[in-house]
Amino acid sequence: MSQSIEAAKRRAAETAAELIRPNMRLGLGTGSTAKHFVDCVGERVRAGLQVICVPTSEATRAQAESLGIPLTTLDETPILDLTVDGADEFDPALRLIKGGGGALLREKIVASASRRMVVITDSSKEVAVLGRFPLPIEVVAFGLAATHQQVTVLGESLGCRGDITLRKTAAGHVFVTDGGHYIFDCAFGAIPDPETLAQGLVAIPGVVEHGLFLGLASAVLVADTAGVRIIGDPHTDRSI
Ligand code: A5P
Repeated sequence: MSQSIEAAKRRAAETAAELIRPNMRLGLGTGSTAKHFVDCVGERVRAGLQVICVPTSEATRAQAESLGIPLTTLDETPILDLTVDGADEFDPALRLIKGGGGALLREKIVASASRRMVVITDSSKEVAVLGRFPLPIEVVAFGLAATHQQVTVLGESLGCRGDITLRKTAAGHVFVTDGGHYIFDCAFGAIPDPETLAQGLVAIPGVVEHGLFLGLASAVLVADTAGVRIIGDPHTDRSI
């Protein structure tokens, strides 16, 4: 990862951290960009800021705990004020693909429990049409081949064709999510109708969740060498 991309991610995270207010209930995203945001929260907590946070993965939980950030759960705190997370891709309508890091299920649960979701990215994640990044789909192990077949047929019916592969770790083992599930990475290329694909995917019993985040993000903060561009409105809540 080049230093300039890391610096851009940090700038996006710092811009998002300006949205934090005392006593906020925060969702903490997962991934290399969200990691910078968690660092920013840690710095503010050390300086005396009071917030309470829900992490979207065990990795983020470990980072937050190491920084002394007070944590809660959605059972204790079912509504959050603000979630800040990264994305693998976003389009002009603020639709996202997420799950490259495998945390999409908890990320979506946390985002959907938040009045505001603000996405922090660098400009490499910007696309006109979603689908350049292979769509992650979290699936149960039982009936894997049947689920694969059903996802294939659904995709083809919506003009989404491409390899659907079971995610493996670098060591060659099947990747297992924090929820104990597997992930299909779907190299669909352009996804002409994300909403209809999303509806179809949730109707497949073996699909736990998919990485299309539609209607969840209020704003995307896009960092590049020129600064941080803001798409959408990072100050307005949605009603949940
Ligand atoms: C984790 O499951 C993902 O959704 C991440 O939020 C996404 O992959 C972005 O990660 P980076 O900031 O590392 O690119």
